[in-house]
Amino acid sequence: MTSRNQQLFEQSQSLIPGGVNSPVRAFRSVGGTPVFFKRGLGSRLWDEDDKEYIDYVGSWGPMIVGHAHPEVVAAVQKTAVNSLSFGAPTALELEMAELVTKLVPSMEQIRLVSSGTEATMSAIRLARGFTGRSRILKFEGCYHGHADALLVKAGSGALTFGQPSSAGVPPEVAAHTLTLAYNDNAAVEDLFRRIGNDIACVIVEPVAGNMNLVVPQNGFLQTLRNQCTQYGAVLIFDEVMTGFRVAPGGAQQLYGIKPDLTTLGKVIGGGLPVGAFGGRKDIMASLAPLGPVYQAGTLSGNPVAVAAGLATLKLVQADGFHAKLAAATRKMVDGLVEAAKGAGVKFSGQSVGGMFGVYFAENIPNSYEEIMQADKNAFNHFFHAMLDAGIYLAPSAFEAGFVSAAHSDEDIQLTIEAAQKVFRAMAA
Ligand SMILES: Cc1ncc(COP(=O)(O)O)c(C=O)c1O
Repeated sequence: MTSRNQQLFEQSQSLIPGGVNSPVRAFRSVGGTPVFFKRGLGSRLWDEDDKEYIDYVGSWGPMIVGHAHPEVVAAVQKTAVNSLSFGAPTALELEMAELVTKLVPSMEQIRLVSSGTEATMSAIRLARGFTGRSRILKFEGCYHGHADALLVKAGSGALTFGQPSSAGVPPEVAAHTLTLAYNDNAAVEDLFRRIGNDIACVIVEPVAGNMNLVVPQNGFLQTLRNQCTQYGAVLIFDEVMTGFRVAPGGAQQLYGIKPDLTTLGKVIGGGLPVGAFGGRKDIMASLAPLGPVYQAGTLSGNPVAVAAGLATLKLVQADGFHAKLAAATRKMVDGLVEAAKGAGVKFSGQSVGGMFGVYFAENIPNSYEEIMQADKNAFNHFFHAMLDAGIYLAPSAFEAGFVSAAHSDEDIQLTIEAAQKVFRAMAA
């Protein structure tokens, strides 16, 4: 019998390219039929065939307090009855600005947008407008949304022009984007020595979560800070994923490095579309209507979305929230690593706050190149076996995983037990 998931996927493919509204959802990396969900509560999800899962995707990060948290749902309902949108300022936006600038003090001023992509695209335009420079530096394996200037891969050397990584991006646009390897301090210093005065900004995921999980090593973030300060380039921390997740004040609080601009998304909307960018007041003064850098949005600061975000941010400020989340995440990863070791499967893992990475590799990778050497086939097998067992992991070996505050000890125990069985079968 064809499942409802399969039926929906077949029908969707005739009307929606690939059957999905964002490519990773199509399961192309792992193969098979994507799961269509109809309900979530806390750490659990239910699909269209009524199968239950423990969720480690969390809508790719936003669901840090779990699905359908009563306080978040109540805030949305209370706000929605007073209109879904005004396209004019609201007191909620001020409340959000006060809360975020308090939690992330490097953000002296903030502007709200509706996605992470909008946040990074706007921050880059602002950095270029502020410095009067065109070139930007990003790192291999980091994802900053799908704006043209950011869909770029490394050219043949540090000083060659970037190459578009997507059709439809003009080479002239990609030419301004330089790409270096994550954690390569010497390459960064070398690039700045040569063309530092032409670089408008450096944009980085302070913990990289879009090539699986890669953490900054050997003072990488400090090196970026030093070089940007020395050459007058704007340092942008893209905390769309790490914001409010690895610490209340994001990765910049965890590592003690202050960027000039920060971009936010995911948790700041609690599951509704909110993004934000902000930082130094003198830089933000270049933004319209105060300055010459244009940026706008019909639904920016949407009241219902902001209400969901505010309710979520209030919950993550609870005493011990992040310590508990980090401990639960660590326990889960340690359990998986232990289970793999017991079965003799080559596997490693790590976590930062409520984010985790697992690798079918003996040692934890520190760059995109090392990530690419992990055993992708083993991951794909693991993914499907875990899915069958009711554990929903990201459908790609190149994504970080997320734990929420709603994940109980029992959830984690069940996950580890499922993994033990899968690893044993893989080793057999
Ligand atoms: C670090 C980072 N920046 C930007 C984005 C883009 O955000 P959005 O998908 O909301 O446009 C993402 C999305 O995964 C991200 O992880």
